[in-house]
Amino acid sequence: MSLTSAFPSVALAHKPTPLELLTNISRETGVNIWVKRDDCTGLAFGGNKARQLEYYIGQAVADGADMLLTTGAVQSNHVRCTVAAARKLGLDVEVQLEHRVDTQSHAYHHSGNPFIVELMGATVHHFPVGEDENAADDALYLRAEALRSSGRKPYVIPLANAHAPWGALGYVEAAEELLAQQHSMQLSPAAWVVASGSASTHAGLLVGLAACEADIALYGICVRRPADAQKARVWNKIKSVTKLFDSIQPPRQEQVQCDDRAFAPGYGVMSESVRQTLLRVARSDGMILDPTYTAKSFAGLLGLIDDGTLAPGSDVVYVHTGGTPAVFAYPEILTDD
Ligand SMILES: Cc1ncc(COP(=O)(O)O)c(C=O)c1O
Repeated sequence: MSLTSAFPSVALAHKPTPLELLTNISRETGVNIWVKRDDCTGLAFGGNKARQLEYYIGQAVADGADMLLTTGAVQSNHVRCTVAAARKLGLDVEVQLEHRVDTQSHAYHHSGNPFIVELMGATVHHFPVGEDENAADDALYLRAEALRSSGRKPYVIPLANAHAPWGALGYVEAAEELLAQQHSMQLSPAAWVVASGSASTHAGLLVGLAACEADIALYGICVRRPADAQKARVWNKIKSVTKLFDSIQPPRQEQVQCDDRAFAPGYGVMSESVRQTLLRVARSDGMILDPTYTAKSFAGLLGLIDDGTLAPGSDVVYVHTGGTPAVFAYPEILTDD
């Protein structure tokens, strides 16, 4: 029995995802970089959101919902996966796209994730603000109210940290899955590295590690806000995830590690060194990272190798959280070398 089997869920993701060695870059850096391929979860190009949605939509189905409502940035992977999940399960879906990244680029607004959303035929609303999670959620709740009064049964997947963190359960489960894979491959990495944004993935993995009493450091690489603010967010999320369980060994606050060296200049915008990381991994190992999340988390991983936190000859697991459709949103930036 897994830690999360008592919670309602639906089957969306291809699981277990592979755990494989990134051969060439491991040779170059002297550290064995194992990749947990959560970019391969299926669901219209996959990523970490597929695992999170299994538990959100489990709640939706248990509540008798007939449609899903959610919000995210224009290039949101969560929005794309929510639409794919709704289509797979025969639910209606409406999404709200927030204007979070200041760009007029046609590709940013129409290629990559929003293009796939359009292919799947979701109703799209636009929200002019990008940095007000509560206002974005309020707009969703308002829309849900209108739908309810016309007889629909919408389920809202909100953005701000206040809601019950059902999605994080997907990463409690993923921690158990990864520990079992490591065991069967006789691997004992000292650390895992993952992107930390809404914090569902980071908090879920930490809760899973603590519950399994696994002594592995988890480095969350900031992709959404600076380290101090992110640490507070992850810790709050951990407390609310822990509350979902009757009894579980919780993580300690000092286990929350956030590293923001790859975050600047801000959400959805890459520094030159993050851009070089994306190109380096594509060219060394044929693995695609995305500009907003995984190029930053991989750059954070390389930083931990460079500063000696990850010792030469050691094993580390990099959790690839997906986001790959977004490479098509940045053609000008990614192809001018
Ligand atoms: C590809 C990708 N990686 C990482 C993250 C961050 O995960 P979380 O929001 O669970 O912290 C996101 C979130 O939007 C994402 O789309």
